[in-house]
Amino acid sequence: MFNPLAFIEVKRNGGRHDEASLKAFVAAVLDGSVADYQAAAWLMAAFLRGLDEEELRAFTLALADSGRRVLLPSGLQAVDKHSTGGVGDKTTLVLVPLVAASGLPVAKLSGPGLGFTGGTVDKLESIPGFRSHLPLDRFVAQVERIGCAISGHSLDLAPAEGRFYGLRDVTATVPSIPLIASSIMSKKLAGGAGSFVFDVKCGDGAFMTDLDEARRLAKSLVDLSRSLGKRSLALVTDMEQPLGQWVGNASEVAEAIEVLKGKGPEDTRELCLLLGGAMVFLGGRSESVETGKALCRHLLDEGKALEKMGQLLEAQGASSRFLEEPEKSLPAAAKRFDLRADRDGRLFRLAARPIGEAVKVMGGGRMRKEDVIDPAVSVELHCKRGEPVRAGDLLLSLYYNDPTRLEEARNSLAQAVAVGEEPPRRPLLLDRVD
Ligand code: URA
Repeated sequence: MFNPLAFIEVKRNGGRHDEASLKAFVAAVLDGSVADYQAAAWLMAAFLRGLDEEELRAFTLALADSGRRVLLPSGLQAVDKHSTGGVGDKTTLVLVPLVAASGLPVAKLSGPGLGFTGGTVDKLESIPGFRSHLPLDRFVAQVERIGCAISGHSLDLAPAEGRFYGLRDVTATVPSIPLIASSIMSKKLAGGAGSFVFDVKCGDGAFMTDLDEARRLAKSLVDLSRSLGKRSLALVTDMEQPLGQWVGNASEVAEAIEVLKGKGPEDTRELCLLLGGAMVFLGGRSESVETGKALCRHLLDEGKALEKMGQLLEAQGASSRFLEEPEKSLPAAAKRFDLRADRDGRLFRLAARPIGEAVKVMGGGRMRKEDVIDPAVSVELHCKRGEPVRAGDLLLSLYYNDPTRLEEARNSLAQAVAVGEEPPRRPLLLDRVD
């Protein structure tokens, strides 16, 4: 009989778990014999004490095998990508149809929002009719039929990871290299793709705020993939300011569709091309990331990626007509609060984390795991870091419905921005780990 107390004590005291006990723990969390509070206590112990390489591998495999693993028919070598979490990061919504339009199958397992960062599943759930949790058979059949599928954890797909993920979101146990690496890799293994591109975010709006830490996470993901027999490539990318002009679930869907239409903000398009190029390269459709990027640029500009998005929506219960005028069917907020510049200068700071926190406290994310989110909550960024502003210019607008925590959100937004000198430039791509 599994003893949760003794198990938690081992990690609390800085000890190590063997493979069998990690497996038993994951199984007990899944069947409910370990309570949420016990799993959360272990998460905090693991957060503080860490997991060594063998523990990480065993924990990852136990999570991946808590459901069934997708087995794509031989000959169907799918590629997948995963971000370590950012603010305004809507790239998955573009990349899945974009890369599938190149002829490479994409089998994508995603999660809901985590901490102050947004999650693909929450964004997709703002699309009327979209089915975001697919049973395994349907997931596989869809990848075979249209070349792509996106699903959250389901009863079949990494269900134990879903439990831990939900607990980490609300127990301050997210920014840990082994917990992030196992969470991501277990979903990648369950999703059945043969190779992965990791977008390791670095900066104020990421779980890894400094470059060395981000590099360590990138290396951990690449090493773990290799030890599990998978090819991968990690790009460390900037998350000092939010990506694009919108943060918030429904608004990010609308912005991603702009990018699929060959438009959208420059930084978002550029990151999609970079990650898409890396996926196409890793999947063997191009000789380098650069030529992969050129192929992706063509697919975006020719409308091929948008066409594939239409097929994806139809396959997962929504209508492709949604793409014509998405803002007409996406939920909209009733109230607005504007933040303006108090002097002339350049936008020196546009910190991503307080913006993500503001969206979260207004109901765009979860404070407790059973919370229902409001997809209409969003922040519009009227200018980006380094741009010139005049006193009185609009910097940010918050769109919301429930004013209960407006004061907190306003304080958070006020901390996010500062007008002053021109800030140092940060490139979008900070490093690459193969
Ligand atoms: N994305 C995940 O799926 N898990 C994490 O822990 C962080 C980002």
